[in-house]
Amino acid sequence: MSVARKIFVVGGSGFLGQAICHNALARGWEVLSLSRHGAPSKILASGSPSARGVKWIRGDALDPASFREHLAGCTAVVHTVGVLMENDYKKMVNIGSTSASSRGSPPPVTYERANRDTALSVARTAREIQGLDTFVYISASDVLPLVSPRYISTKREAENELLAHEERMRPVILRPGFMFSSDRPVSLPIAAGVSLFNALYHRTPAGCLLKHTPFAKAASPALRRELVASAVTNAIEDSRISGVLEIADIERIGNIKAP
Ligand SMILES: NC(=O)c1ccc[n+]([C@@H]2O[C@H](COP(=O)([O-])OP(=O)(O)OC[C@H]3O[C@@H](n4cnc5c(N)ncnc54)[C@H](OP(=O)(O)O)[C@@H]3O)[C@@H](O)[C@H]2O)c1
Repeated sequence: MSVARKIFVVGGSGFLGQAICHNALARGWEVLSLSRHGAPSKILASGSPSARGVKWIRGDALDPASFREHLAGCTAVVHTVGVLMENDYKKMVNIGSTSASSRGSPPPVTYERANRDTALSVARTAREIQGLDTFVYISASDVLPLVSPRYISTKREAENELLAHEERMRPVILRPGFMFSSDRPVSLPIAAGVSLFNALYHRTPAGCLLKHTPFAKAASPALRRELVASAVTNAIEDSRISGVLEIADIERIGNIKAP
């Protein structure tokens, strides 16, 4: 039987975060979401279970004072913040934003701040909270061609720091490849392309020609967002799961039927 849990989703309003909140609510868990803009208006307007069930907190992962009090009583944190494009500054304004924006220029969005520092800021704060014993970090598999290597290196830096504190909080690190969902229609043709490429690469002689190109690493399955969300909640539930979960592990754990 599912134990009563209270989880704190950093980025619960995002693409994956929403699916995690939805999945956790369906298990009867208490769900809090932290994001700079709070509840997405589309969710509020939909009247969906998430609209009513999630406690939406406005705050910044880089500013512990904006969320610390809400961690009390939580048993797990799920961190989903991350940027693929460093100059995606409109989507990423962080601490310092109060002082910096008052000077008229928000701090630049860097991979370091978005992918690594937001996670380490929340993890450091979470380690102070009694009873909070699990930290799930949404990392990424190095499968995307032509993306800056710092996208992955900053993810790995965060992973290493979380793994270094595993005696205090169980780290669960998911490394998905591309994620898709019918909720994000643009992701569907990309996922179809990834699947086709994967099949060509592994099952036809054409794969040999691609082996030494930057595209070779893209020959990995795209994952349904809901499957990744299910892997997150299944991993929270099973304390034997710890450490890095690669794409195949995510598929396996995500497919375990919830109790
Ligand atoms: N999408 C993919 O195909 C894919 C593939 C592999 C790995 N990943 C990884 O999976 C994770 C989730 O991706 P996604 O596509 O769901 O991202 P997303 O849709 O961009 O969601 C990011 C969430 O983080 C919040 N956020 C951003 N900065 C914040 C801050 N400083 N403090 C608090 N909240 C903040 C955003 O809300 P606000 O803007 O309101 O703050 C939003 O809720 C990322 O780490 C990404 O690198 C994604």
